[in-house]
Amino acid sequence: MTLSTTPSPTIRPARTDDTAEVDRLYDICLRTGDSGQDASGQYSDPRLIGEIYLGAYLALEPDLAFVLDDGTGPVGYVVGTQDTAAFEARCAREWWPPLRQRYPRGAFAEGSPDAQLVGQVHAPRTTDRSIATAYPAHLHVDLLPQAQGGGNGRRLLQTLFDALRARGVSGLHLGVAPGNTAAIGFYRHLGFTELDTPDGGLVLGLRL
Ligand SMILES: CC(C)(COP(=O)(O)OP(=O)(O)OC[C@H]1O[C@@H](n2cnc3c(N)ncnc32)[C@H](O)[C@@H]1OP(=O)(O)O)[C@@H](O)C(=O)NCCC(=O)NCCS
Repeated sequence: MTLSTTPSPTIRPARTDDTAEVDRLYDICLRTGDSGQDASGQYSDPRLIGEIYLGAYLALEPDLAFVLDDGTGPVGYVVGTQDTAAFEARCAREWWPPLRQRYPRGAFAEGSPDAQLVGQVHAPRTTDRSIATAYPAHLHVDLLPQAQGGGNGRRLLQTLFDALRARGVSGLHLGVAPGNTAAIGFYRHLGFTELDTPDGGLVLGLRL
């Protein structure tokens, strides 16, 4: 008798020039975009959240984008940059201007969740200089529910950490929604600690 087993998902570089793969990654961003929960019911535009939290990394930092592939395609990803200040400057020049054309202020009803995202397109958050100096890299990691809890998040982060260490990066930080207690527990378990921020947002840091 042959027992069928489900192969464990593999980690590989993101195929950032494959439109179908990029679309799938944007969908993962949406389906984990409400403090780790599915945000697809909140937004009328399904891509906008990905344009803010994912697209620039795929376009500008393709060598630091990795996916978890279960054989059907990506079910999770980690993306990042080794130099947050330089990345934000590049986004200001290359990423945000065309998005502002595509999503002008007033594109969605005032006060709606989509309008809130459009506000971020026109006034992107920037990282406090002291954090960007001491913890220059940053990342975003998202797994679909079926891929969570089996060590995949740890493996994805390890992959990015290895790539950053190979580039001589000494530390990284990330922002997390204060209500995302599951992710906060995960990051703390991996050694992240809370950093002081001038604006009171929750930012965690790790020395590599
Ligand atoms: C947060 C997330 C990336 C974690 O990945 P995961 O695959 O679920 O976590 P893992 O199974 O890799 O956990 C790694 C370790 O952390 C521990 N851990 C996970 N969640 C924990 C928690 N809430 N509290 C304490 N420890 C936790 C695990 O027990 C495991 O420990 P071990 O390796 O020492 O045995 C994933 O659940 C996810 O993508 N969630 C939805 C999207 C999201 O919230 N992204 C983060 C936005 S900031």
